[in-house]
Amino acid sequence: MKIIIEKNYEKVSCAAAEFLAETVKKNPFAVLGLATGSTPVGAYKRLAEACKRGELSFKNVKTFNLDEYVGLGECDAQSYVTFMRENLFSKVDIDLNNTFLPDGKAKDLDAECKRYSALIGSLTRDVQLLGLGRNGHIGFNEPYTPFDSVTHVVELTADTVQANSRLFDDIAQVPRKAVTMGIAEIMKAKRILLVATGKDKAHAVRAAVKGEITPAVPASVLQNHADVTVILDEEAASELH
Ligand code: F6R
Repeated sequence: MKIIIEKNYEKVSCAAAEFLAETVKKNPFAVLGLATGSTPVGAYKRLAEACKRGELSFKNVKTFNLDEYVGLGECDAQSYVTFMRENLFSKVDIDLNNTFLPDGKAKDLDAECKRYSALIGSLTRDVQLLGLGRNGHIGFNEPYTPFDSVTHVVELTADTVQANSRLFDDIAQVPRKAVTMGIAEIMKAKRILLVATGKDKAHAVRAAVKGEITPAVPASVLQNHADVTVILDEEAASELH
């Protein structure tokens, strides 16, 4: 595991954007696994700026997102598909047909999980970008999700619902379920980039990076992956020493 500690969120965002940009420059047909949430917003902004300056092109890039809320879709402001379009896809030259997320509005969610799992399995991701939950989740794989899990429907924990309520008018509006890529599928990416910032992630960072490898801390599974880069700000790294 390579751990990079930057001063603050801005510097972390630069480093994460640089990592992803290098991947796309090396392989213009790169397949990227992407995440939503607050953490990657700054990195996506920088990728969009690089694209605008003509330094980078997503023309032939394909993307797979980690997760989507059950019941939300492209018409919903808080869905992850809307988040990705607003924060990245509409700002770079990517073909929307090459961007994939689970369909949270699918009538048959089991069939949707199987479809998405097969889709992920059909291409190798060059990089999987991950944020980190305060409880150590990756994607929406909450504590005690088996390490061999594939795409599935998950009941979000109270902590995750609480953390995500900041993006909704009212906590009652936060969906209680999501479709998430499984841990086994996350681990199949060639490289993993885990990004975490802020004091409230410090405990989960320590458990993920230095703790026992256990389903109680889903991110601890990353210690078993051969090529993981972790980019942290000083606050998120504050319990590592
Ligand atoms: C998002 C995702 C989640 C987030 C995590 C951290 O697609 O899969 O695992 O990465 O909850 O969220 P933020 O970045 O909002 O702190």
